[in-house]
Amino acid sequence: MRVCVVGGGGREHALAHVLGRSCEVVVTPGNAGIVGSTPVPAEEIAADLYVIGPEAPLVEGLADKLRARGKLVFGPGADGARLEGSKGWMKQLLVSAGVPTAAHGTFSEAAQALKFLDTLGDLFVIKTDGLAAGKGVLVTEDRAEADAAVRDYISGEAFGDAGRRVVIEEGLSGPELSLLALCDGNRAVCLAPAQDFKRVGEGDVGPNTGGMGAYSPVPQAPLSLVEEVMERAVLPTLAELQKRGIDYRGVLYAGLMLTTEGVKVLEYNVRFGDPEAQVVLPRLHNDLAEMLAQAAAGQLCVEPLYSDDAAVTVVCAAQGYPGSARVGDAIQGIEAANASEGVTVFCAGVASAPVAVGAPHKQPDSFAEGDKSLALRGGGLVTAGGRVLSVTGQGPSLAAARERAYGGVAQIDWPGRYFRGDIAWAGISDNLERSA
Ligand code: AMP
Ligand code: GLY
Repeated sequence: MRVCVVGGGGREHALAHVLGRSCEVVVTPGNAGIVGSTPVPAEEIAADLYVIGPEAPLVEGLADKLRARGKLVFGPGADGARLEGSKGWMKQLLVSAGVPTAAHGTFSEAAQALKFLDTLGDLFVIKTDGLAAGKGVLVTEDRAEADAAVRDYISGEAFGDAGRRVVIEEGLSGPELSLLALCDGNRAVCLAPAQDFKRVGEGDVGPNTGGMGAYSPVPQAPLSLVEEVMERAVLPTLAELQKRGIDYRGVLYAGLMLTTEGVKVLEYNVRFGDPEAQVVLPRLHNDLAEMLAQAAAGQLCVEPLYSDDAAVTVVCAAQGYPGSARVGDAIQGIEAANASEGVTVFCAGVASAPVAVGAPHKQPDSFAEGDKSLALRGGGLVTAGGRVLSVTGQGPSLAAARERAYGGVAQIDWPGRYFRGDIAWAGISDNLERSA
């Protein structure tokens, strides 16, 4: 089977890596660290299956365009992608479906929004209605900061049109969990739970990011919890989508909070999580291409099977992220990290280094050349974005996986590189407490 993966981040590298176990893979646009990358748009690539990674092309209707040409596509159409494209619409759908979620209001007028803030407790949550690359959520106890955010969002100053409508929510607290379900329009199967680290700083401080690391499995998420989320959230959501005439084929990613009142859905995403994909997918025993093709065809019938291994991924970011990031620095050590047992590097914000005139430069030309050899035969890679790469470690326990991930991180360097040192630590200390 030939699979076309759309996107160019760490998630798409993980998709290409795992799909590459059984298929020929082409990635558009990919990046200089993903073998099989091409600038040719998806519409012009011949493939048996198209897997759309990021939310933006889904919201813009790429899946619809490809389906209109008779292609087999894993990813919802623009109708279903509204779940992520408009948080206001998503919250309204959750309420209709009876899915537990934070109390909220949606506003386009600052005065009304500020009045709603008066009705909330001590924790204020302000979200852009539209897409903001994972950065449009402010969670604060500082009322003055909340007021300022409401004004900056609604005026368009902070996030342009994405923030002119805001969703304001009551603040919840508790551990978070990401559950990704594969849907075929009617049926859904759940992938292994993962925990993501959204804040930029160790100890969960500082601004929200796209995600600084993740691990799977999650000791706090036994099968009974997964079943509860499927029963109370994912399946009612899929039924509500169907009721509205939406044939949802793709990932339904539930961002959950385990509150003292039970599990609540913070948000839905319409795609694999990044960096959750970098820990969930490598652990999968099934043929991923077969599963995604079944879901895309409306005939999902296999159950996901997982290795007993754990996986931990650590995102290495450029200096300045999640603000404007320093770029253009030469990256060292990816090959050495990839050569270490149980370590895989997934590239995101990278570009090919400029090659000196006359120097030999060979781009990899097929995925079959092997994912681990990468594009490093040319001039090497330089940083080209905020989240530059993620290093996944796999091992027989979370502690072993974590050690391998950080061992890989230690082999990679560039000026100003930043990573969190506490990824998966909570999962391990929880394990230790349980076994004590
Ligand atoms: P979202 O993109 O909606 O998942 O929000 C990003 C992050 O903001 C979540 O992972 C939580 O850490 C935090 N967050 C979102 N909604 C709430 C809420 N109602 N209460 C507390 N924290 C929240
Ligand atoms: N890791 C969070 C996300 O993919 O939205």
